[in-house]
Amino acid sequence: MDKLVIQGGNRLTGDIYVSGAKNSVVAILPATLLLDVPCIIENVPDISDVKICLSILESLGAQIDHLGEGTYKISCEYVRDYEVPEKYAQKMRASYYFLGALLGRCGRAKAAMPGGCYLGERPIDQHLLAFEALGADTTLIEYKNDDGVGYVGAVELHAKELNANHITLNVVSVGATMNAILSAVKAHGTTVIENCAREPHIVDLANFLNYMGAHISGAGTHKITIEGVSELRGNAAEGSVEIRSYSVVPDQIEAGTFMIAAAATRGDVYIHGVIPHHLRDIADRMAECGVEVEAIENEDIVHVYVKEGAAFQATNVVTEPYPGFPTDMQPQMAVLLALSEGQSNITESVWEDRFKYVEELRLMGANIDLTRDGAIIWGVNGLHGAKVKACDLRAGAAVVIAGLAATGTTEITDIHHIERGYSHIVEKLRGIGADIQRVSE
Ligand code: EPZ
Repeated sequence: MDKLVIQGGNRLTGDIYVSGAKNSVVAILPATLLLDVPCIIENVPDISDVKICLSILESLGAQIDHLGEGTYKISCEYVRDYEVPEKYAQKMRASYYFLGALLGRCGRAKAAMPGGCYLGERPIDQHLLAFEALGADTTLIEYKNDDGVGYVGAVELHAKELNANHITLNVVSVGATMNAILSAVKAHGTTVIENCAREPHIVDLANFLNYMGAHISGAGTHKITIEGVSELRGNAAEGSVEIRSYSVVPDQIEAGTFMIAAAATRGDVYIHGVIPHHLRDIADRMAECGVEVEAIENEDIVHVYVKEGAAFQATNVVTEPYPGFPTDMQPQMAVLLALSEGQSNITESVWEDRFKYVEELRLMGANIDLTRDGAIIWGVNGLHGAKVKACDLRAGAAVVIAGLAATGTTEITDIHHIERGYSHIVEKLRGIGADIQRVSE
């Protein structure tokens, strides 16, 4: 197994480029199963979750051609299977998007319960609610563990046909919103989905499907309306071979991670390839800490720097669904707050257990107490290097940022978590002056 070794203390300066969004592409790749023609997906990040999605598509019978960096031609015309191989399904959370896409494609789907970061209980009841509302029979398949105790190990869906409905989600859920869209785009009639999540990756999925011929309106609001269509073939008239290309939206969370890294090292960094308004709440909280964040007018760039001698100030953060402060930025923001004078409070309103990184930051000198629904952080003058681990994807990003800001050497193990969602993070950070390398343990 490899680890990351960071010599902390370098100011990060210069230009860094953001890749396509993990949480968008893991829905768009399964969505290609709904198409009646091939398509080309661009700006695909080089991360392990993408590799798993592509492996699942190929296992189902799709033809995948790697046309160049971040660009894939995907043809699903000859897909006949509807069962996601267990070995892949359990490796990431987003494997459940294949349920919605396969149900929408052929009325059948089967997948093991998804894996992904442990953030506490991660039910899928809202996904099942949406599938059943559209006419699917859902079967929870029970497995037995080594002690003979039963648990739900897989889900099977079957619908003779899919008919539109008025769906009201009981929880603002990114995954359930995405799966409701995937299973409704080819349902008969007009479906309305209420209480939707509004994240940029939901808009991106809807934009992709509309570009390929779907009729989805309201993505990015709490109410989405979908007029079912019988075919999705872009503007390719019957028999024509025009293949449409779609570019994945920039990763809001990767951009936010680089913003915090620039600030925590008191650097001066231009982050390219972003959509500034996706970063507004992140920028606002960082500004409250005394960080300078400027969106370059009419550009896809944010400039992050810290004024000479400016001390970071404590602030409070409550995670909320978009457009609030993203839960996926909570661990990274905690590192900045650990370096901010005074007492900061973090309230984690989305996940029940997203503080595994705290123990690792304490090893580096952070002063953090956990409370019932969050954390209290007392700023310290600085962090010091230590041997730590990446507990999950964003916890891993947090210890990378802490290592960059700390004095001395930080070693990070379990970096496979980080590689699920950050492409070429070592090369990108070295490009702005970080002393970071990946070495074999
Ligand atoms: C997506 O997870 C993201 N993952 C997560 O990002 C992100 O933290 C989360 O959305 C919130 O933004 C992907 O997109 C692959 P949810 P998801 O359904 O869809 C409850 C990362 O770091 N809920 O929006 O699983 C749930 O328990 C990852 O990139 C139900 O109760 O999250 C949670 O409290 C980590 N029933 C809340 O809703 C359901 O059926 C939000 O979950 C579904 C969810």
